[in-house]
Amino acid sequence: MCRRLGFALLVGVLAAALVLPPAASAQDESSSGWNPFSFLRSSFSSLRSTAARSFDAVKNTTLSVAHKVVRFAVVRSTEDEICYRIIGCFNLKAPWFTLSRPLPAPKSPDSINVEFFLYTRESASRFTIPSDVELSLQGSTFDGAKRTFFLVHGFLNSGNDEWMAKLKDAILGQVDGNVFIVNWGGGAIDPNYLQAASNTRVVGREIARLGRTLIQQHGAAAKDMHIIGHSLGAHISGYAARNITNVGRVTGMDPAGPGFEALSRTVRLNKNCATFVDALHTNARPLTQLGFGIMQTVAHVDFYLNGGEFQPGCATPSVEMPSSLTDLISLPVTALNELVSCSHTRSYHVFTEAIANTTCRFWGHKTSVARQRLKWRKSVAAEVPVKEGPCRSGKCVPIGLDTPDFPARGSFAVVTGSDSPYCLQERSKDGQSLEQLRILGYVD
Ligand SMILES: *[C@@H]1O[C@H](CO)[C@@H](O)[C@H](O)[C@H]1NC(C)=O
Ligand SMILES: *[C@@H]1O[C@H](CO)[C@@H](O)[C@H](O)[C@H]1NC(C)=O
Ligand SMILES: *[C@@H]1O[C@H](CO)[C@@H](O)[C@H](O)[C@H]1NC(C)=O
Repeated sequence: MCRRLGFALLVGVLAAALVLPPAASAQDESSSGWNPFSFLRSSFSSLRSTAARSFDAVKNTTLSVAHKVVRFAVVRSTEDEICYRIIGCFNLKAPWFTLSRPLPAPKSPDSINVEFFLYTRESASRFTIPSDVELSLQGSTFDGAKRTFFLVHGFLNSGNDEWMAKLKDAILGQVDGNVFIVNWGGGAIDPNYLQAASNTRVVGREIARLGRTLIQQHGAAAKDMHIIGHSLGAHISGYAARNITNVGRVTGMDPAGPGFEALSRTVRLNKNCATFVDALHTNARPLTQLGFGIMQTVAHVDFYLNGGEFQPGCATPSVEMPSSLTDLISLPVTALNELVSCSHTRSYHVFTEAIANTTCRFWGHKTSVARQRLKWRKSVAAEVPVKEGPCRSGKCVPIGLDTPDFPARGSFAVVTGSDSPYCLQERSKDGQSLEQLRILGYVD
């Protein structure tokens, strides 16, 4: 607890430092009577209430944990690393913890309490595997000879959310495989985004532990594994795949931006995580402009939907713009929910529809990403896909389970409707969608 309070104070100081961008401060002060001291006061009072909530949560967890065996007890904790039984150590130095990434240490595996819900065509009801010392599949319908999918949710979600069940159904509708829904609600439902972002490392290790168990004891192959994650879950998927090694595919659905964008690739989803990595970008804007998704390319195939920043049919969130990463801590959960809704969640709606609907395809048209290097405080659309030739074979890739079968790699623009079903009517590769892209100026 002392560590936690210490952290809260540290964050306060960092928050103060981070909201004083050299370029913006002079302007802000004159135009809106901006006052660093009033900011500090309000920042500290909201940090106090966040801290108070955290103390409650810690007390509650401690009470419930007291009655069961602590399976993943801390075996070592220093300033530089924290180590747990079974899942090992986590480095708490750069690049995991830096001035621009002021994250607390990950919570314990016991309090995050990852669970795996297994579904197959043989068994419609779920088989739950708790993250115990032994990961037992006894009595399940898991078949190591088949493909295996892991679905991983993000911030403020849990494995019981409806969208995960829909994605699971879409996959089982097309593939006779094993689908694990990964529930890490105990680490994701935390008003402190920075804490949830840190907890992702523990979840990645837990998935990797199950993945390796499936390979070593149940005849599964890493190349037949496909890990699919939304938001923070996209980075978890990358960590898990890296730890398993040689995983066939990772799909990031609007990978989270805050705390990951433009930082060391070690901390985020990247091309080296799996044999094939693809990503859907639906809310790729800076946090300060109400974006929650990562803007930079992270994959072999990066799809930018409708320009990648905001999605058609989504209202602009009415949330007050956070001015820094640490500001996120003081936003109420309702505001956070609004911030991460609509455009950010469109990624999994489209991916699910792309798998379920075999007659209409979401074609990606090759584009060049305008600017790779991000100018954080400067401009809005840091990366808008622009101008590319007509859609020829080798220049088009569809969203879906068969994306890797198409040879083209790079960044791709996709146009969708504003409502479900999002897929625009069946057309040829050079048909209606190309016309739409042309109107929007993405292709010649
Ligand atoms: C802790 O438990 C108390 C009583 O069960 C409950 O009222 C409170 O909301 C809980 N706090 C948290 C943060 O879960
Ligand atoms: C993979 O996970 C194990 C523990 O589960 C850990 O000891 C090891 O350091 C991890 N490897 C990498 C590359 O993260
Ligand atoms: C596939 O998408 C098209 C276009 O959106 C839609 O008209 C059709 O009903 C969808 N089919 C299925 C099976 O969902």
